[in-house]
Amino acid sequence: TGLITLDDGYGNTGSCASAITFIDGEKGILRYRGVPIEDLAARSSFIETAELLIFGELPDPEARDEFRQLLTENSALHRDMRKHFDGFPADAHPMAILSAMINALQAYDLPEIHITDASGFRRAAAALLAKTRTIAAASYKSHIGQPIAYPRYDMPYAENFLHMMFSVPYRDYEPTPEVAHALNMFLVLHADHEQNCSTSTVRMVASGGANLFASVSAGVNALWGPRHGGANMAVVEMLSRIHQEKIPVSRYIDQAKDRSSGVRLMGFGHRIYRSFDPRAQILKEAAHSLLESLNVTDPLLDIARQVEEAALADDYFRERRLYPNVDFYSGIILRAIGIPTDMFTVMFAIGRTPGWIAHWKEIHDNAAQRIHRPRQLYVGEPLTQWLPPAER
Ligand code: CMC
Repeated sequence: TGLITLDDGYGNTGSCASAITFIDGEKGILRYRGVPIEDLAARSSFIETAELLIFGELPDPEARDEFRQLLTENSALHRDMRKHFDGFPADAHPMAILSAMINALQAYDLPEIHITDASGFRRAAAALLAKTRTIAAASYKSHIGQPIAYPRYDMPYAENFLHMMFSVPYRDYEPTPEVAHALNMFLVLHADHEQNCSTSTVRMVASGGANLFASVSAGVNALWGPRHGGANMAVVEMLSRIHQEKIPVSRYIDQAKDRSSGVRLMGFGHRIYRSFDPRAQILKEAAHSLLESLNVTDPLLDIARQVEEAALADDYFRERRLYPNVDFYSGIILRAIGIPTDMFTVMFAIGRTPGWIAHWKEIHDNAAQRIHRPRQLYVGEPLTQWLPPAER
C-alpha cells in the first residue's frame, strides 16, 4: 500500500488541476478565469460573472441574451414542487429546505439527466441558477406564512429575487438601484473560491458520477457550517451580542484569543489569505456606501470597525496572520437590504452556485477523471477477537 502522508484538513494537498479561479493568498489576489475580482465587483452582473465561470469566457451579446432567456424560461418551479414547501415544519432552517429542494430538482423533468451536449448543459445550468433563487425566496415565504411570490419575467436576477422575497399580495416590491447593486455585488463576490469546503464537496460527489443537482445539493450542506458559509450569520450574531450586552470589544477579543473559551472571532481568518481578503475590502466599502445611500445607520457597522481595528492591532491575530474575511462585512449589507439573519447562508449559497456548477462541469468533462478517494492512517484497535455478548 506504500507510505501514506497525513495532511490534516488538506492544508497542503492539491486535490485537482483547475482552470476556473486563481488565488494568491500572500498578495490578496482573486481572479475568475483570469479576470480580477475588483473589475467584476465594480462592473459585471452576477449572471455575466456566472457565465464567465461556467462557460470559461465573458459572453458576447448574443450568448448573453440567449442565456438570459434560458434563465427566464426556467425560473418558475414545477407546480408539484410547490407542495414540498407545505411538508416542512414552519421553523425548518432555510438551508435544509434549499438542499432538499435542489436535490429534488433532478426528479422534475429537467434536462440534467440528459446533459450529453453543450446545449443540454446550458439549460441545466440556467435552470439551476434560476430555480435556486426561486427556491430560496419560496422557503422564506413559507417560513413566515406568506404566499409564495412568482418570479417576474421582466426583472434582472438580483431584483427578481428581492421581488420574490418582499412582494406581498397586491403590493409588488421593487428594489432601489442602490439595493439591487449591493446585492449584485455580494453575489459576484461569492461566486467562486476554488477548493473551499463546499466546492471540494461538490467535486467529490461529482467524481463518483452523481448528477449536477445531487452534487450541488451536497455543496449546500457543506456550506451550512459556521466555519464556512454559516460564518456570515455568526458574525452578525456576534456583533449583536457585543452591542446588546454592551461587551467591551477588548474583552470579546481576549475571549476569542483564549482557546479554552471555544469562542472564535467570526469573520476572521482564512486558510489561504495571509495578508488580506480582497472581497472583505470591497464589502467594507460597499457596506458603508449602502448605509449612506439608504440614509440609515447600523450600530453593528461601528462595532465591526472597532473589532477589526482592535484585532488587527493585536499580536495574537498578527502572528497568526488573521484578517477579516468575506463574511465579516457581508452581513451588514444583507441586514440593510432587509434579509433576515437565518437567510444569510442561503444568500451565500445562491452566490456560490455558479462556482459549484463550473466545478461540477470540470469534473464531468474530464473523461480521465478518477473517483476522489483519499487515504487514511488507521489509528484504531489492532486485530481484536469477536466475543459472544455474555463474555464482553
Ligand atoms: N479567531 C480566533 N482564533 C483563530 C481564528 C479566529 N477567527 N481563526 C483561526 N484562529 C487561530 C486558531 O486557533 C489557530 O491558533 P493556534 O495556532 O494557536 O492553534 C490558528 O489561528 C490557525 O487556525 P486554524 O483553525 O488552523 O486555521 P484554518 O485554516 O484551519 O481555519 C478558518 C480557517 C476560516 C476556518 C478559521 O480561521 C475560522 O474558524 N474562522 C472563523 C470562522 C469564519 O470566519 N469562517 C469564514 C471563512 S471565509 C468564507 C468561507 O469559507 O465560508
